[in-house]
Amino acid sequence: MERYSINGGNRLSGDIVVSGAKNAAVAVIAASVMVNDVSIIENLPAIADVNRLYAIVGSLGVRVRQLTDRSVELDCRDIRSYYASCPEMGELRASYYMLGALLGRFGYAKIAMPGGCNFGIRPIDQHVKGLEALGAKVSIGGGYITAEAEKLTGARISLDVVTVGATINIMLAATMAVGQTIIENAAQEPHIVDLANFLNACGAQIRGAGTNTIRITGVPQLEGRTYAIIPDQIEAGTYLAAVTGTGGDVTVHNVIPRHLMCITSKLIEMGAEVEDLGDAVRIRRNAPLRRANVRTMPYPGFPTDMQPQVTALLCFARGTSIVTEGVWDDRFRYVDQLARMGAHITVKDGRTAVIEGFGRLEAAPLIATDLRAGAAMVIAGLCAKGTTYIDEVRFIERGYEDLVTKLRGIGADISGDVGAEPLIETFIRIA
Ligand code: EPU
Repeated sequence: MERYSINGGNRLSGDIVVSGAKNAAVAVIAASVMVNDVSIIENLPAIADVNRLYAIVGSLGVRVRQLTDRSVELDCRDIRSYYASCPEMGELRASYYMLGALLGRFGYAKIAMPGGCNFGIRPIDQHVKGLEALGAKVSIGGGYITAEAEKLTGARISLDVVTVGATINIMLAATMAVGQTIIENAAQEPHIVDLANFLNACGAQIRGAGTNTIRITGVPQLEGRTYAIIPDQIEAGTYLAAVTGTGGDVTVHNVIPRHLMCITSKLIEMGAEVEDLGDAVRIRRNAPLRRANVRTMPYPGFPTDMQPQVTALLCFARGTSIVTEGVWDDRFRYVDQLARMGAHITVKDGRTAVIEGFGRLEAAPLIATDLRAGAAMVIAGLCAKGTTYIDEVRFIERGYEDLVTKLRGIGADISGDVGAEPLIETFIRIA
């Protein structure tokens, strides 16, 4: 689809089902390349970024067979290339997991530079530091990253910053290194645990995933298994934030409530009532929406991938809220779009947003600037009076499966248009 049209103001109610986690799926698909065997991955989200990963591993010789909408068979017995350069490499961040996976299994990897959402500079120094500590020679040039090692040897690696990507790349390379690797100051996100669980199911020896110290004892080979991806914490959080904004009563199914506590605790502060139903969460809001201060941090802190959504939500509360971005240098670029709806947001140093909430925004034509920013605009459109149009929704569809259908199922008046002429350009031409 190219554009969403949202008639805001409906209270949401009913049931919605969350898909498999994007950021776990892309790591597990990349990791499957390390297995000289056939793996079956289930509960995969049907989203653009996962399709891109299929194209990337397919370009290396992996036979990808879609079994159902949600499951895929990956036959990695006949990989014929350690050189990942297809166009999809530059279209998402997780493409760089091919570096750790290919290096870990074959001792050599050459990959095109990764893409992904633009939050300012996205360095890879910690990936390089970790792989070099394991004995790899890493070089960057001509748009490629190359890593090679005659032998990878376990090492103690203390990360300078908490990084999901470097933690994953080091885990991948260390899984088949000789001896023990200890990653200190490791990321603790649920998808790190999911990746470790997949690799351990295949025969790896990874302990401590989900804490800040991960211990990996290298194994010579891995065996294929059937593995189901965890539910998407951020997709669930986005729907929970939407209901907090519109008011209503929705049960969000296929979730791990523990993974959502860092999000739901803030939504409760803002006036929502949340009930843990085991593998579902029920959310209601009948009280007025309240202002709040939010600081994003690595897990188990409030996730940066929920920062735009909660910022949009706080525009509908009365009073001043402060949102501090603790992970990325420049993740508030989308506030210009919310300003088109009448939002009063001042951003200082790219890191702090001061939101003067007046309890309402007006519908406007918007452009999704990245994945979560696009999700924030959907929330703003659902809460605002009038018709909001969002262009460039391909960014949103990178990470949200069937967003329009799912939201319609809980009473949102949202539709998707194919082949729409760019709205904002149209406005400019008419003016
Ligand atoms: N960093 C470094 N050096 C490095 C790597 C990272 O300084 O070598 C810094 C970054 O600049 C940033 C911080 O460390 O300030 C965290 O970056 P991280 O490596 O954790 O991010 P990532 O692995 O590139 C993943 C998610 C992002 C999510 C971040 C943080 C995937 C595919 N992407 O990115 O998800 O924002 O972790 O939680 O897992 C999204 O889903 O919308 C998304 C952007």
